[in-house]
Amino acid sequence: MELANLDWSNLSFAYKDTDYNVRCYYRNGQWGELEVSSSNQINMHMAATTLHYGQEAFEGMKAFMGKDGKVRIFRWEENAERLIRSAQGIMLAEVPKELFKKAITRAVELNRRFVPPHGTGASLYIRPLLIGTGPRVGVKPADEYLFMVFVTPVGPYFKEGFSPVKVQIARDVDRAAPLGTGKYKVGGNYAASLLSGTRAHDEGFAACLYLDAVEKKYIDEAGPANFFGIKNNTYVTPKSDSILPSITNKSLQQIAKDMGMEVEVRPIPVEELPEFDEVGACGTAAVISPIREIQDRDTGKVYTYGDKPGPISTKMYHKLQAIQTGDEEDKHGWVLKMDV
Ligand SMILES: Cc1ncc(COP(=O)(O)O)c(C=O)c1O
Repeated sequence: MELANLDWSNLSFAYKDTDYNVRCYYRNGQWGELEVSSSNQINMHMAATTLHYGQEAFEGMKAFMGKDGKVRIFRWEENAERLIRSAQGIMLAEVPKELFKKAITRAVELNRRFVPPHGTGASLYIRPLLIGTGPRVGVKPADEYLFMVFVTPVGPYFKEGFSPVKVQIARDVDRAAPLGTGKYKVGGNYAASLLSGTRAHDEGFAACLYLDAVEKKYIDEAGPANFFGIKNNTYVTPKSDSILPSITNKSLQQIAKDMGMEVEVRPIPVEELPEFDEVGACGTAAVISPIREIQDRDTGKVYTYGDKPGPISTKMYHKLQAIQTGDEEDKHGWVLKMDV
C-alpha cells in the first residue's frame, strides 16, 4: 500500500484528516454493527446529553510502525478498561472490550497509509470517543450512545527533541474534586482545566501543576499528564483519587522496576520537590516531558532541575519508545502486533 504523501518527520501534534473512521450506535439497550464512515462530521440531536451535560468519555493511545513493517498498538486493553471505568463513572453505555478492540484495529487497518514510517518519531494517534446522543432536557443519562474511533498521524511531541519544560503551580484553581470525576477521562475535566492551562501557557509554562484540592499540600497532576520524581534510585508518583490513572505512568513504573529501581506510589508533598534529582510529566502524547523548572505562582518559590533531561528519565523514555516500536523485546505483552 502506498503511504500518504505527508512530511512525516515534520508532523506536529495536531489533527489531520485521514480516510475513514468507525462508528457503532447503542440503541434499545444494545450495540449495533460497526460502521465505516469517510465523513469527519457527526449528525446528532441538538438535545443530546453529550452537548448539554457533558456525558462523554474518550481515550487516547498510539500505533507505531515497526522496523518489520508491522503496525503495533500499545496497551489497548488498558485503554479499553479505562473507558469502561469512565462509562461507569458518568453512566454511559459501556463499550465491551472486544468491540473496543475491533473498532481500534479496524480504524488503524483502514488508515494504514497514515501510519508514520519507523524511525520518524511520529505515530498514529487513536482517539476512541463515547458520547450520549439521546435527547434529554432533564439531567439524566441518555438512552442512546455513539462510540466512534478516529485516527490521526502525529509527530513527536518535542519538535527539538526530548527537551525539558517549565510548569506552574497555581493554588487558585482545581482541575478536579477529591470525590469527583478526576479519575475518569471525561470531557468535563478538560473543560475545567482550560482556563488555568491557558493562563499557564500565556505566562510561559507548558502546563499547570495542580495540587490536591483539599489541603493544597500534595502534587496531583501535571496538566494532561501524571507527575513523577526520581530520587535515591526510586521512582515516586502521586497516589490520588482525583488524577487519571496514566497508562504511560503504569508502564514507566514497570520499566523502573525492570531497571532495578524502587517504585513508590504515595502522596508527594510540595516540600519534597527540592529532594528530587529529576522530575517529569508522563502521558501518551510525549511519553515523558522532563521538567526543568517548577514555579509556584502564589508563593514565588522556584524549583529547578537543570536544562538537560536527567539520565534516568532519558533511559526510561528510550526504553518505553523502543518497546512501542518493536525495537526492544515486549516482555510484558504490552504490544498488539497487527497483521497489517
Ligand atoms: C489528565 C490526564 N492525566 C494523565 C494522562 C496520561 O495518561 P496516559 O499515559 O494513559 O496517556 C492524560 C492523557 O491521557 C490525561 O489527559
